Amino acid sequence: MENFSYHNPVKIIFGRQTIAQLANEIPANAKVLMTYGGGSIKKNGVYEQVKAALAGFDLLEFGGIEPNPHYETCMKAVELIRKEKVAFLLAVGGGSVVDGTKLIAAAVSFAGNPWDIVARRAPFASALPIGVVLTLPATGTEMNGNSVVTRAATQEKLSFSSPLVYPKFSILDPETTYSLPPRQISNGVVDAFVHVAEQYMNPPANAPLQDYYAESILKVLIEEGPRALSAPQDYNVRANVMWAATMALNGLIACGVPQDWSTHEIGHELTALHGLDHGQTLAVVMPGVWRTLRAQKFDKLLQMGKRVFGIAGGSPEERVEAAIDATENFFRSLGTKTKLAEYGLDETVIEPVAQRFAARQHPFITPDMVRKVLRQRL
Ligand code: NZQ
Ligand code: ZN
Repeated sequence: MENFSYHNPVKIIFGRQTIAQLANEIPANAKVLMTYGGGSIKKNGVYEQVKAALAGFDLLEFGGIEPNPHYETCMKAVELIRKEKVAFLLAVGGGSVVDGTKLIAAAVSFAGNPWDIVARRAPFASALPIGVVLTLPATGTEMNGNSVVTRAATQEKLSFSSPLVYPKFSILDPETTYSLPPRQISNGVVDAFVHVAEQYMNPPANAPLQDYYAESILKVLIEEGPRALSAPQDYNVRANVMWAATMALNGLIACGVPQDWSTHEIGHELTALHGLDHGQTLAVVMPGVWRTLRAQKFDKLLQMGKRVFGIAGGSPEERVEAAIDATENFFRSLGTKTKLAEYGLDETVIEPVAQRFAARQHPFITPDMVRKVLRQRL
């Protein structure tokens, strides 16, 4: 096992009707800005619950944070915050609202060009405190210090990470997820599955606890993901998916093991350039990454095949192939397409993605690797 340090300060408040507890978590005299997305919270009752919980608070609103949150939109919120002297940010929505709010929190007191926080990973000294009401289980952003932001003008989708943007608390009420469209349920299950894979499908590190933990998250997603689609009002199913997604990317299973985020990094380019949903890009890219880096992922593919999918027969090579196929079939069973052609894309998309990694001089993802991965996914 590798050395590690682990500190996760996020308070999780989980369960039915927990939005009512908001007032206990936010300083009573703080001016609060509620950030949200395109309006789903106004249709499913979450907006009313937040307003009721914070009656008596000095509460402003900033809506319109789009999926794959735009830097440009976030900067409008920064202007408002500076003008109104907001002291606390409350993000209400999916991963995009939370991620956008993390950038907003960091940018408010940043002296330079805030895009540098993302593009150059420029350090920042402080951030406004953030609270979260999560409505879409997927990204893990509710319990981590990561944020992914898109600059619409240049079609760049980049991330930053800082302990300063960990939420102070995250409220996870599984009932808020009943209103999710099937596409977003599937995207979320795929995203959480791939988060586990990026931290697990790597050379063995003699870390059996992390392995079993990762495998148990995968199993819960495989068992409960399809049920979330077939029985959308089943509370326990929604609760299990929500908690699994949080545990998939809160740093715990990454302790002491190697990670490889190639699938995410290549996937982000497909979102930036072609608008695929985050989860859709992962379902397309990951089987290609696994086959391209088959040697270094071989032992864990075998292990996952056996422990998660129950694949026992055949030669090791056949079992590894079967494990990759089983994963792709799981994504397809959720209704998520896994080939570029199914999203109307052909081989012309490959070179521009490869060139982005060339320009970035990425230490691990070479243009040639990108070509190999994506050629398999036409
Ligand atoms: O904008 P609204 O109207 O709220 O609608 C959203 C949006 O259209 C809708 N939605 C959310 N909750 C709903 C709902 N609709 C009905 N009922 C509800 N309860 O769903 C749509 C997608 O929302 P979005 O927030 O974009 O989805 P998700 O949570 O999957 O977040 C994706 C973003 O997170 C980033 C992705 O790259 C992408 O930008 N990621 C963030 C990570 C992190 N911070 O750690 C890690 C991930 O790997 C990922 O990269
Ligand atoms: Zn992801």
